[in-house]
Amino acid sequence: RRGSPLVKEIREKQSMNKSRQRFWELAGSKLGHILGVEETAEQVDAGNAGAGADQRDAGFREKLQFSQHLEGKAEAVSDFVRSKSFSEQRQYLPIYAARDDLLGVVRENQVVVVVGETGSGKTTQLTQYLHEDGYTRTGLVGCTQPRRVAAMSVARRVSEEMGTALGDEVGYAIRFEDVTSPNTKIKYMTDGVLLRETLKDADLDRYRVIIMDEAHERSLDTDVLFGILKEVVARRRDFKLIVTSATLNAEKFSEFFGGAPVFHIPGRTFPVNIIFSRTPCEDYVEAAVKQAIHMTSGPGDILIFMTGQEEIETACYALAERMEQIVSSSTKAVPKLSILPIYSQLPADLQAKIFQKAEEGTRKCIVATNIAETSLTVDGILYVIDTGYGKMKVYNPRMGMDALQVFPCSRAAADQRAGRAGRTGPGTCYRLFTESAYQNEMLPNPVPEIQRTNLGNVVLLLKSLNVENLLDFDFMDPPPQENILNSMYQLWLLGALNNVGGLTSLGRKMVEFPLDPTLAKMLHMGKELGCVDEVLTIVSMLSVPSVFFRPKDRAEESDAAKEKFFVPESDHLTLLNVYLQWESNQYRGDCWRYAQEAIIKCDWCNDHFLNVKGLQKAREVRSQLLDILKTLKIPLSSCRMEWDVVRKAICSAYFQNAARLKGVGEYVNCQNGTPCHLHPSSALYGLGYTPDYIVYHELVLTKKEYMQCVSAVDPQWLAELAPMFFSVKEGDTSFLDRRRWHDEEKTVMEGEMEKLRQEQAEATGRE
Ligand code: CDP
Ligand code: MG
Repeated sequence: RRGSPLVKEIREKQSMNKSRQRFWELAGSKLGHILGVEETAEQVDAGNAGAGADQRDAGFREKLQFSQHLEGKAEAVSDFVRSKSFSEQRQYLPIYAARDDLLGVVRENQVVVVVGETGSGKTTQLTQYLHEDGYTRTGLVGCTQPRRVAAMSVARRVSEEMGTALGDEVGYAIRFEDVTSPNTKIKYMTDGVLLRETLKDADLDRYRVIIMDEAHERSLDTDVLFGILKEVVARRRDFKLIVTSATLNAEKFSEFFGGAPVFHIPGRTFPVNIIFSRTPCEDYVEAAVKQAIHMTSGPGDILIFMTGQEEIETACYALAERMEQIVSSSTKAVPKLSILPIYSQLPADLQAKIFQKAEEGTRKCIVATNIAETSLTVDGILYVIDTGYGKMKVYNPRMGMDALQVFPCSRAAADQRAGRAGRTGPGTCYRLFTESAYQNEMLPNPVPEIQRTNLGNVVLLLKSLNVENLLDFDFMDPPPQENILNSMYQLWLLGALNNVGGLTSLGRKMVEFPLDPTLAKMLHMGKELGCVDEVLTIVSMLSVPSVFFRPKDRAEESDAAKEKFFVPESDHLTLLNVYLQWESNQYRGDCWRYAQEAIIKCDWCNDHFLNVKGLQKAREVRSQLLDILKTLKIPLSSCRMEWDVVRKAICSAYFQNAARLKGVGEYVNCQNGTPCHLHPSSALYGLGYTPDYIVYHELVLTKKEYMQCVSAVDPQWLAELAPMFFSVKEGDTSFLDRRRWHDEEKTVMEGEMEKLRQEQAEATGRE
């Protein structure tokens, strides 16, 4: 796939004219209401002069027919629903007609698979039905979501429907944020949160019912939960499990739970007319924008699927710009287009906008990632434009690196996307790929996350749940053995596992923290070296999005502000420095504000180009981790500004991410020889000297393999902390020698594990 020329063009434009921040400020207010026009046929033709004109012509005729056929209907339906009270809205959902049958099936079975089109009411209604049917008298009704955004927004919606404050009877929990109370009866949470709860309470005794929602997404944590909850079901006769899924995969889920009944919610969907691209599309961002611009007036909102934030911003920008052009060159009046982005990193107040009804005569155009595929439902969409791509996290065990990469989506995902157009009336889906690509190139189903991701956390968690042998765990689709063994090896290096793959006492402590194994190890070393206070702050700062604010039109100024915080040899210490200075300024700060076209500086954070919300979040995370330290009776020791000690603790967590200087700004990973580069935003970049050895937090693959968050280390520390890798006389051992050692060591560990496995199997007579 070639990069989108449109993305490049707009990126340049943005850095020339306006800052992105400024742009989003606008997007929040004015952009949403840019004037549109009723298009004339000439304008459509002119717009279609680019690639794929045939397809758009066909689409245009198609649409004309539909919009004539529909005139008024869809608007009327959603207006009707919106105008009703919550209880009337609830009765209008497809699941309502099936309520009593559904509750009957749940009463009679311990596990039920519920299948229904997206938007039929599974997520918001099931919990309430169970509550109304009395299940919450003897425990919680829990509902898991693969996405944080969904957990929060659904909990809010349900609390409104039930007329209670959020966090009272209805609450939610995501990592580092628990909005529940002793009163809570219905709890939405991420699957990761429930997974961690099984550590404290293997039988999940607090819960009467668990709904595993969006199971078809097959997120890593959902897949692990499948195996764990299957055991809970076997142990607790009073426990109910409901697995919900969009139309995919239901049979597979039923089979996994020994033939659990599958309950279908009768759908109320309309046909969707699918229009394929005739030729492969060169630049799908451009094509999508054109397609959206050339929609005729008439009812129905538009939903465009893109892969990520940058493409979405580009598309929104281009849409706004072109609408402006059309408006200024047209004499006719005026249906409006409201351009609304949605992706997980978008601030919550802007996210909420997609659910608001547009003003009279305005068409919404939502530009989304695959977040809008199943987990969020917006009413009134009649047109879907599908680029056919999505982003996926993929783990490369050789490089020890997760990378977000763009992939063609699966056929199942494409069908799901198309379905979004048929919720309020007959719709149309424009696929910006060919029918032959759909048939021959796309996979039938997405690859589950568990088969393509780093398993460090999963291994640690399962080990502490006493799953001795991961290869025996009841996975619906087992992960590749290479990934399991590699993750075990990494944990062994950190000291979390012993030679035969058992959990060490350090490993047991590491599990207590809702953190990646490396960060948990760093905290542990903080204890050993007497600098818990400092390490705690660094770990917290690494657990929130970047706190540095860098508006494009003030890049130099903000870079200069950041430089003042630099601790030359370490980005980790730079983060610590920022936090300490914020602390000594009484945690003051306010958000960036725009008024009368100018940025108003009003506070310490603003003056220093820091994002106060990020800092506040880090402070919250810090206090929660501190609570865990207290329960483990680990005192808050401090090394009092002896920053070399802190760097040593940092070094101990990351020696698998140790790298040696190779050229200017260029390093190679000591273990696997992967080249890695200093990022220009690093404190070490452009220093007078470049340290020979460094460690980094993670490697991110963009244009090059860039290291994020780097600290210089003393090679002596590496030799001391990981003697198996590093000898002081580094020159004597070649990279190949070390590689060989690495592989031999791994084979020995695997051999010992296999031996143990056979012994165990013989002992239990299983083989
Ligand atoms: O889970 P499922 O896709 O079956 O449906 P749902 O999420 O329960 O959505 C049912 C209805 O509630 C839809 O019409 C949504 O538009 C609406 N809803 C909402 O207005 N606000 C939310 N945050 C979530 C759902
Ligand atoms: Mg749902």
